[in-house]
Amino acid sequence: MNILHSAVFVTLVFACANFPVTYGKLVSIQDDVLRALLVMNRSCDTGASSSHYAFYAYLSHDLPEPGGNRHFIYDTVKTNIGNAYNNITGTFTVPRNGIYSFTWSTRVECSKAHTTELVLNTRVLGSTYIWCGYNTVTGHVVTYASQGEAVFVRTHSSHGKGAIKSNNSGRSAFSGFLIA
Ligand SMILES: *[C@@H]1O[C@H](CO)[C@@H](O)[C@H](O)[C@H]1NC(C)=O
Ligand SMILES: *[C@@H]1O[C@H](CO)[C@@H](O)[C@H](O)[C@H]1NC(C)=O
Ligand SMILES: *[C@@H]1O[C@H](CO)[C@@H](O)[C@H](O)[C@H]1NC(C)=O
Repeated sequence: MNILHSAVFVTLVFACANFPVTYGKLVSIQDDVLRALLVMNRSCDTGASSSHYAFYAYLSHDLPEPGGNRHFIYDTVKTNIGNAYNNITGTFTVPRNGIYSFTWSTRVECSKAHTTELVLNTRVLGSTYIWCGYNTVTGHVVTYASQGEAVFVRTHSSHGKGAIKSNNSGRSAFSGFLIA
């Protein structure tokens, strides 16, 4: 019985503290303490799995003339932990209330310029401006967001002309993750 209890305890440490247990010690614990620990272990487990949301996607190709208010669909998904980013719509749907970090990068063709916006539902939270094709601009937003809200990137309604570029010499990309 003692051996079973101590084995359970080691598992609990694993789930709650999220680091590997490198030593083992046989301990004896009371049944009521064990029941409390089992409840704790379940809540730790739930907390751990629902806090992992992270995505990273990029455009697989150039967009020749996206125009204004064009919603970017970053079609190549490299990371999508928690599956909250949709590569058909280009939208990250906030999976739960929390503080999030979002980053987006944009490259344009030479002698052309674009303003791109990071949008939460209808609110523009971030904006970047890029001119010419030999560099990439990156914007970063940290925000509180509520479950179900939509986060995406689009071109400004009027400040833009020419192609958005994305190839292995420089990617137009979108990423984000839940901070807490
Ligand atoms: C405690 O949580 C871990 C991680 O989810 C799980 O694998 C383990 O079975 C749980 N232990 C008990 C005794 O419920
Ligand atoms: C887009 O998402 C779908 C569904 O998750 C997946 O099957 C497909 O492989 C993804 N496409 C790319 C290019 O990542
Ligand atoms: C990728 O983009 C760079 C810079 O615009 C360009 O010089 C190069 O030809 C492109 N490569 C391909 C394979 O299109």
